[in-house]
Amino acid sequence: MRMGWWWSATAFIALVAMAASGAIAQATKYADQPPLLVGAAWYPEQWPEPEWDHDLSLMEAAHIDVVRVGEFAWSTMEPSEGKYEFGWLDRAIALAAKHHICVVLGTPTAAPPAWMTTKYPETLRVDENGRRAEHGNRQQFSFTDPKYRQFAHDIAEQMAIHFGHNPNVVGWQLDNEYADPDFGPTARRQFHAWLEKKYGTVANVNQHWATAYWSQTYDSFDEIPLRAERENPALLLEWKRFVSETWKSYSLNQISAIRPHADPRQFITTNTMGWFDGFDEYTVHSVLDLAAWDDYISTDTYDWIDNGARHDLARGFKNKNFWVMETEPAFVNWRPTNTPLEKGQVRDMAWQAIGHGADVVEYWQWRSAPNGQEEYHGVLVGADGTPVPVYDEVRQIGEEFAKAGPEIAGTAPHSDVALVNDYDSRWAIDFQRHSAGFDPVKEMLAFYEPLRMRSQAVDVISIDAPLDGYKLVELPALNVLSQAAADKLMAYVRNGGHLVLGPRTGMKDEYNALYPERQPGPLAEFLGGRVDQFYALDQNVPLSGDWGAGTANVWAEQLSVRSPDTKVLMRYGKSNGWLDDQPAAISRQVGKGTITYIGAWIDPLLMEEMTKEALQQAGVQPIVRSAPAGVEVCQRSSADKSIVILINHNTNDEHVDLPGPMRDLIGNEGPVSRVNLPAYGVAVLEAQK
Ligand code: GLA
Ligand code: GLA
Repeated sequence: MRMGWWWSATAFIALVAMAASGAIAQATKYADQPPLLVGAAWYPEQWPEPEWDHDLSLMEAAHIDVVRVGEFAWSTMEPSEGKYEFGWLDRAIALAAKHHICVVLGTPTAAPPAWMTTKYPETLRVDENGRRAEHGNRQQFSFTDPKYRQFAHDIAEQMAIHFGHNPNVVGWQLDNEYADPDFGPTARRQFHAWLEKKYGTVANVNQHWATAYWSQTYDSFDEIPLRAERENPALLLEWKRFVSETWKSYSLNQISAIRPHADPRQFITTNTMGWFDGFDEYTVHSVLDLAAWDDYISTDTYDWIDNGARHDLARGFKNKNFWVMETEPAFVNWRPTNTPLEKGQVRDMAWQAIGHGADVVEYWQWRSAPNGQEEYHGVLVGADGTPVPVYDEVRQIGEEFAKAGPEIAGTAPHSDVALVNDYDSRWAIDFQRHSAGFDPVKEMLAFYEPLRMRSQAVDVISIDAPLDGYKLVELPALNVLSQAAADKLMAYVRNGGHLVLGPRTGMKDEYNALYPERQPGPLAEFLGGRVDQFYALDQNVPLSGDWGAGTANVWAEQLSVRSPDTKVLMRYGKSNGWLDDQPAAISRQVGKGTITYIGAWIDPLLMEEMTKEALQQAGVQPIVRSAPAGVEVCQRSSADKSIVILINHNTNDEHVDLPGPMRDLIGNEGPVSRVNLPAYGVAVLEAQK
């Protein structure tokens, strides 16, 4: 039906009004949904239907705008083979809509039903030791098995036919936390086919993997083993890449079922797990609409630096704002001792998420299941259906998101500095750590922390992301460096960029083979220096120079300079003889750009000095100069506005002097030039025009 002129005029006026009021969808593409959402994981299939309305009323009262449902409900959606039952889900979604709560639908493929795994045992995954999984847990499926793929496609397609145009369904979550690969016969065949496609001939494999070593020479692809450890490092790296590509095709299998039947405004994503490196997130995200991750504190206390870095990592998966699909309502059930976040820290974390570019924060889970493996997990409402203490804090978050959302709509974090996260390199180092303490994530965080403190904004990106626009790019340990990536890095420096390389960078080519020119491989000539030898350390080695005096541990490389304009910035002091008085960090200026190579894992104070100088050289300024330690500064901006979020992660009061008068969007006062923040306090500020 053709729309009358009045309709378009009305729609236009509505759009203008929405734009003027700032009510522009940001978290979703649905203009009638709020720009920032608070949500919860809700499992209606676990509860008698007469209780739903009460649950949803309590959600509405807490300003909960979104529920994720369905991701483990396969046995309820398809109780027997090919027999689909969606009536209950229709009713749950409709009732949620009545309470102004929209829905993300999870495809239930992380939890196949018992009838399936019993009748088709090939759908169950096989572990590395050849053992097939059993029913009763979850994630027991084989991600390669064609039968499983068919079942997954069919349920996703049936769901999409049914819900693809439900106006209250804003998006899709595929499966849940992709994790374990399969080592069964199908996976083996597919791995061999994948290798054959990539290498063409087995001779090519033998050459790149140097298989003459230990008589690994292969006569055919079928002879290549399937192992995730204690193998040729080239094979191990290819296995991880195969696993990544398989999760990508696993996603595409469901996307191809959903997309043709879904409203284009409905996004498709999956929920990921922070630093988890079971596959390359960039590969998998290449086919997803947005990134979403599950933010849980895995340490005893909330480490806000690490958590902020994980947000930045997730933002880098698609280089845009993202969803926190799950986070803890104060505590989890899977650590040895599940200590809670302190009162106030749930809110602190929620605003940190927004500060780093999340548009949604969803709590796992709404209500304890009556039974099951997670009876002790944190919730908002107990099994009795009444709120637990943290409910009030979430309600406050909901109120604040509703209040500040319209102003935050359309904004995103922007940064002058980037830190490169590279799965190939992380895997390559982990296959052969050489020094037990060389955890690539810890090393990444050693670079991240001072960078974040001083610049107040860091992008964590893939080596394939565009670098132009960044004033400073740091590669903590880009162990696997292709010639193409090296060319791109050199072009970045030639264009005036400042590049800092950490230890172990440029040691291997993309086949995990050693570069004959030694580190940093294809960058050595450009740097005008190289690594003569590397050493694992188990004690401090002194070093001093431009960044002051300090120590290195875990790793130290003996560098040499091979060009007259390459400067030595730091030298080792007396230690094992090899390193004595040798260069530890060198740098070369190329036009207006610089390339700096740091050969050691240096202590936090030296790291701090190094960062200070790198930022100064690159001309990067902090957002709020006077922020005290422990007060995090985040900025989200758009062409016409700038929002500054301050979070006091300390247990004492702090105050911050602002660069100019600002209005606190979640406070009551008028414009302020100084903000007082109690312990775990938050201010969401907009500059006054
Ligand atoms: C043993 C083996 C060698 C080599 C060395 C490495 O001695 O015989 O092949 O692996 O260890 O230390
Ligand atoms: C993961 C899962 C959820 C739940 C939580 C508990 O994130 O996705 O289903 O098990 O952990 O913390």
